[in-house]
Amino acid sequence: MWPLILFLLIIVSGCEHEELNSSNSQPIQRLSQESLPGKAEYERACATCHDGSLKKAPHRDMIALMTPGSIFSAMTKGVMQTQASNLSDKERQQIAEYLSGGSLGQTVKKIPACQESKGYREGSQIVGSNWGVDLNNTRYISSDIAGLDSTSLGDLAIRWAIAMPGSTRVRSQPAFGGGLVFVGSHSGSVYALDPDTGCAVWEFAASGEVRTSISVSEENKQPMIYFGDVLANVYGVKSDTGELVWKIKADDHPNATITGSPTFYGGNLYIPISSLEVSNAIDPYYECCTFRGSVLAVDGLTGKEVWKTYTIVEKAGVTGKNKIGVDVIGPSGAVVWNSPSIDKNNNQLFVGTGENMSSPATGTSDALIAMDLNTGEINWVFQATENDAWNVSCGLGAEENCPVENGPDFDFGGATIVLDTSAHGPLVIAGQKSGFVHAVKSITGELVWQTRVGRGGIQGGIHFGIAARDETIFVPISDMEDGKSYPDPDRPGMNAVDANTGKIIWSTLHDNRCGGREFCHPGISQVVTVIGDMVLGGAMDGIIRAYAIDNGKILWELDTTKNEYSSITGAMAFGGSFGGAAGPIASDGLLLISSGYGLYNHMPGNLLLALEAREISD
Ligand code: HEC
Repeated sequence: MWPLILFLLIIVSGCEHEELNSSNSQPIQRLSQESLPGKAEYERACATCHDGSLKKAPHRDMIALMTPGSIFSAMTKGVMQTQASNLSDKERQQIAEYLSGGSLGQTVKKIPACQESKGYREGSQIVGSNWGVDLNNTRYISSDIAGLDSTSLGDLAIRWAIAMPGSTRVRSQPAFGGGLVFVGSHSGSVYALDPDTGCAVWEFAASGEVRTSISVSEENKQPMIYFGDVLANVYGVKSDTGELVWKIKADDHPNATITGSPTFYGGNLYIPISSLEVSNAIDPYYECCTFRGSVLAVDGLTGKEVWKTYTIVEKAGVTGKNKIGVDVIGPSGAVVWNSPSIDKNNNQLFVGTGENMSSPATGTSDALIAMDLNTGEINWVFQATENDAWNVSCGLGAEENCPVENGPDFDFGGATIVLDTSAHGPLVIAGQKSGFVHAVKSITGELVWQTRVGRGGIQGGIHFGIAARDETIFVPISDMEDGKSYPDPDRPGMNAVDANTGKIIWSTLHDNRCGGREFCHPGISQVVTVIGDMVLGGAMDGIIRAYAIDNGKILWELDTTKNEYSSITGAMAFGGSFGGAAGPIASDGLLLISSGYGLYNHMPGNLLLALEAREISD
């Protein structure tokens, strides 16, 4: 058996990929935990509900994304107190360590509570109130608002650094509002930080890791923030105190997750819903698959459902048998792991979808979808890649559950941008893991142009998204190896593309500066941000670079893996690969960057770094 397990471990590490797909290694990772003492207790006290059989109970592979500390507190003071009531603390600890693969013993240095802070002040500048910076998802911050442009780069100084407690990845994009910084974390804590010193004005404990950004709203009497966690819970919390107003489970499926950021607009929160069921299929006896992607709209004041629209309309059922005679269920998949963009003028929202997880493939996978804001009704679908059904069993040599389509696994991971162009009017533009950028008419979904910018791959191509200023699109390319061979060479780096024609204006490819370091790669997975006259992109080699928007020249760079940073928590903070949807964000002369992507073969890190600019020179 061991040679097979080792073989699987090696292969899976070669093809890990985000979002749903990269998390696929959980069942494999599990194998290394099977000898831990918590296994027997887990099977006795927890397995009946957490092996995927019970709606609403997160699958153990989802719980594996939690830190040992948050699993432990679910049993001691959270929702699992009753279920764990006849276990000793030692047994609870063993279960937490068994499920997470981590160790509970380490003392975590917390972010210190503020002794002095002005607290939440309504009417202060809000930046990143939604993940996309504006509703169009352009991720453009003017130099006035950022208090920062290319002339500030020479003398950026560290204002503070935080080693995010108990974290090996930093994936929640911070938001500025009410004079505070809001950010989620790997440990499940959500913080309101004072931008001057980084101290915590308040801390809120979510159930699981928070990878979304924090939406900030001052529309109502009570200012609120909103976010989701990896267990598919969504929260509405008071901005000034951190007090919970409402919490909902956005989807009943045991493998449901929220990693794309919800978008708040007009009183409603629009929530993209994804899942990691794609990884369960690695078990040949698993009846693959039953999850389907959706967007859920809820009332921001109460969390009550306004509408929910699934990305797959066909009825689900048994569609055949897998190679060892186990039922195949479908269609499934077309998950949504990007943040909706909104076209106010035409009352629509847009998302991109992932592949199908079982046969048959549908017309809505790897697609851009427009929905009516009021009803959720689907207005149009633009499918970029047809017949893409894939799950983690494919390519592993144990392919009982691999659909006949067998990939290519080309999700839309990055979000859509709505851009008004002089040549074509409003376009919806998005990058795909295939390496292509597509532009379609926002009213009809009709294709206007398609450009191949990267070679493509299971981790992109374009992974977590693009940005835009005026009529130029900025396209980061990952092109990380994924164990497959492609006809074209890889192009890790940054590009600018003309939004009217799709022509590439410039490309700045990265040298490989990894020097053989494990989990290091020159490509860009993390979403990028335009600040004034530059675009900022953090790469998987741990280096963040600023490129001039008109010619792509690298104006500045910072290698976050070179030094440790002394954290206000008293620990040392260290950077790793930049990854996920936590792109750079800036307000009022303060630039925040998030470095560390300890997951699926990227360099871990725990660094939230605040860099301050001197005044911009005219
Ligand atoms: C009778 C079924 C059942 C049993 C037994 C059970 N759970 Fe749960 N568990 C659930 C359900 C349902 C939820 C979702 C609860 C919710 O969202 O309110 C859940 C949620 C959780 C969560 C997420 C916590 C959170 O804050 O959302 C963890 C962690 C967890 N369970 C661990 C365990 C462990 C460890 C055991 C064994 C000691 C266990 N569970 C036993 C049904 C069960």
